[in-house]
Amino acid sequence: MPAPFYITTPIYYVNDSPHIGHAYTTLACDAVARFMRLDGRRVRFLTGTDEHGQKVEKAARDAGLDPQAFTDRVSQRFRDLAAAMRVSNDDFIRTTEPRHKRAVTELWRRLVASGDIYLGKYAGWYSVRDEAFYAENELVNGRAPTGAPVEWVEEPSYFFRLSVWQERLLTFYEANPDCILPLSRRNEVVSFVRSGLQDLSVSRTSFRWGIPVPDDPAHVMYVWLDALTNYLSAVGYPDTEGAEFRSFWPADLHVVGKDILRFHTVYWPAFLMSAGLAPPRRVFAHGWWTNEGQKISKSLGNVIDPHELIGRYGLDATRYFLLREVPFGADGDFSHAGMVRRMNADLANDYGNLAQRVLAMIARNCGGRLPVPGPLLETDEVLLAAAAALLPRLRAEMSVPAPHRALELIWEVIGEANRWVDAQAPWTLRKTDPARMATVLWVLAETLRRLAILTQPFMPDASAKLLDQLGVPAEARDFAALANPLAADSPLPAPAGVFPRYVEAAA
Ligand code: MSP
Repeated sequence: MPAPFYITTPIYYVNDSPHIGHAYTTLACDAVARFMRLDGRRVRFLTGTDEHGQKVEKAARDAGLDPQAFTDRVSQRFRDLAAAMRVSNDDFIRTTEPRHKRAVTELWRRLVASGDIYLGKYAGWYSVRDEAFYAENELVNGRAPTGAPVEWVEEPSYFFRLSVWQERLLTFYEANPDCILPLSRRNEVVSFVRSGLQDLSVSRTSFRWGIPVPDDPAHVMYVWLDALTNYLSAVGYPDTEGAEFRSFWPADLHVVGKDILRFHTVYWPAFLMSAGLAPPRRVFAHGWWTNEGQKISKSLGNVIDPHELIGRYGLDATRYFLLREVPFGADGDFSHAGMVRRMNADLANDYGNLAQRVLAMIARNCGGRLPVPGPLLETDEVLLAAAAALLPRLRAEMSVPAPHRALELIWEVIGEANRWVDAQAPWTLRKTDPARMATVLWVLAETLRRLAILTQPFMPDASAKLLDQLGVPAEARDFAALANPLAADSPLPAPAGVFPRYVEAAA
């Protein structure tokens, strides 16, 4: 039995409507989750919303709503976006749910039992926007290093003895070389931990919107301790003997943006180890998007609404662009011109044209049925082998995950297939050697079938349409089915274009 696979997005703050950053993390996870499912793994794909803390409390107040009513409303927008993007999450967690409160309360008790929690007093800087504490020497011109405003906070607080975890964290990174990716990010984390860790304030007394500290309800838990625990709550913690927990913990992959790496790779493994739980197997940090070269911010008014992207370019093109344009892990720029280039060059010309030519020739010359191939020549075997060789290579890339690389590899074969059509010239064979034409078209249809199965994780709708046009039944679309070639002579539906060209509206 292949190992189960547990993948998570960060849970999103509900102070705001979803934007391209949220869409990006979720889509990348969706592609990985779909890939693993098609590959036969039992997948748990979790996303959700982070609903406590000062930032959300303030947003609720600004909206004139009670925090619970406010979070109910905004959390729904994240569910709606996931549905609009055809995200295949298996669960959606909210930190205001009872199952989550139960888990966090228990985790806290475990940290207390380990002797890692003590009562003290916090005096220092806090940024509500980042929901993070900053030391004096971290400030840049009186602001957080992220540019967020900070305020002075002085209040009684429980602390987590992070300082004592330094060596054990370093040992953990050392023993698990791939537990933080990309490697440049891993190096940043390791040098941060080497430079020494301060104990972490893990409770607040100056506001109420949070989970109360057990036995001391004057305190609510620090929102990051609360939020990180969602990954446990969703697999049944504190029931560590239950089937859910035993199948899915430790998580295989937390995908996060680079800004929240420290929380996931320093605090989180320390909390887990302190509670006697295994840390996640991997945390992958992706980069940030800019919009037409500019930093995205509400004050600049250039926030990208994912619903608008889908409306304008279509869902599959949006998914393709975001996952292909930028190496996963690097920063990237969203531009209309870049999007149109990808749609027209990669999708319409390369993939779309291949499909269109093959399916149209079959419809026209083979009576709307899959051609019956004669003996395969070496050149046929070479093309089929290139398509067959993709799966192990994609497995390696998607386990990083490097979806951009996976797509590049698929496009290499698309390019090879397009060159092969030209070289074989089936339109000429139609007159000179119809039997060979039938073989060539069958080889192309079979190549297309393999490609369409492999593009499902990235572009589920377009891939399904291609597979429909090839007459591939729903139960023969997973990766195990790659080994079963198309049946010759079965009837095909009429072909229809799958990747529209983007044409600028006339000015
Ligand atoms: N609530 C925390 C996460 C808690 S996880 C236990 C949080 N939420 S967030 O809504 O502010 O951000 C969620 C994700 O969006 C982060 O991974 C962040 O990196 C990502 N992005 C926000 N803006 C982004 C871009 N402009 N580009 C790409 N991703 C960006 O942090």
